[in-house]
Amino acid sequence: MIRIFPRKLHYAAAAILEPIQILLGTRDPLLPSRELIDSVGGGDYKALGNQWFRHFTTIGGLKPDHRVLDVGCGCGRIAVPLLEYISGNGGYWGFDITRAGIRWCERRIASRRPNFHFTLADIYNKNYHPEGRIQPVEYRFPYADGFFDFIFLTSVFTHMQAPEMNRYLSEIARVMKSGARCMMSFFLMNPEVRNLPQDKAIIDFKFKLKDCYSSREDIPEAAIAFDEGYVRDRFSARGLRIIEPIHFGCWCGRKQFVDYQDIVLATKP
Ligand SMILES: C[S@@+](CC[C@H](N)C(=O)[O-])C[C@H]1O[C@@H](n2cnc3c(N)ncnc32)[C@H](O)[C@@H]1O
Repeated sequence: MIRIFPRKLHYAAAAILEPIQILLGTRDPLLPSRELIDSVGGGDYKALGNQWFRHFTTIGGLKPDHRVLDVGCGCGRIAVPLLEYISGNGGYWGFDITRAGIRWCERRIASRRPNFHFTLADIYNKNYHPEGRIQPVEYRFPYADGFFDFIFLTSVFTHMQAPEMNRYLSEIARVMKSGARCMMSFFLMNPEVRNLPQDKAIIDFKFKLKDCYSSREDIPEAAIAFDEGYVRDRFSARGLRIIEPIHFGCWCGRKQFVDYQDIVLATKP
């Protein structure tokens, strides 16, 4: 309660102050408060959003007329660079479990474009929404079968345990068109990672859970890793074909990498 109340107070104050600061020209309307950014991962909001956007267009094959789904969209880090990219023939849909992030996205992003949509889902996650009433394994994405051309999850499966990840993979496969692509980041364990010097790894996944690993025993969802072989098997079970190679990250101390996390691109044949 002591930790949550000041944060709620901060968001309420920001909702009142931000429009005034934007009117006065003292605030970037597409940059959330530091507090809000930190509540869903932190870092340089604009630089990281632009970096992911580049991965989507150069590695993922994202096109302006695509219908895109951003699962776990947080406070719009990826939606912002997509604002000027997705055309009127395409559209953006994002959902998340954190109220403050979704409310900010509705106010600052959806208000600018009729084809940008945000949904709040009251789903449990011990790290992000411990009061959530819906279990992620029971959640059905609120979209029709075969609706999307491109689906992405940036730093979301790095906060979900195996049963939840499996449920989401099945929902992702359901809402993908035939020929659609999905791109998502993971922490993947494999023989290469296990042979790297332990002291170079940024995260130590020392707690073994069922079909995954965590860095923290008390809040497992703080950071979750999977065996690469397990992820490959689960994609295949959902009819998703991984487009090789997996783009490995530097989180484990790897010297050659594409980004911080490992990036998996797949298609629904
Ligand atoms: C590290 S943040 C990343 C946010 C955003 N994808 C980005 O790149 O800025 C992880 C996000 O996953 C969301 N999340 C966690 N569990 C979720 C679930 N079951 N369904 C949807 N979103 C979830 C959190 O609320 C949080 O916004």
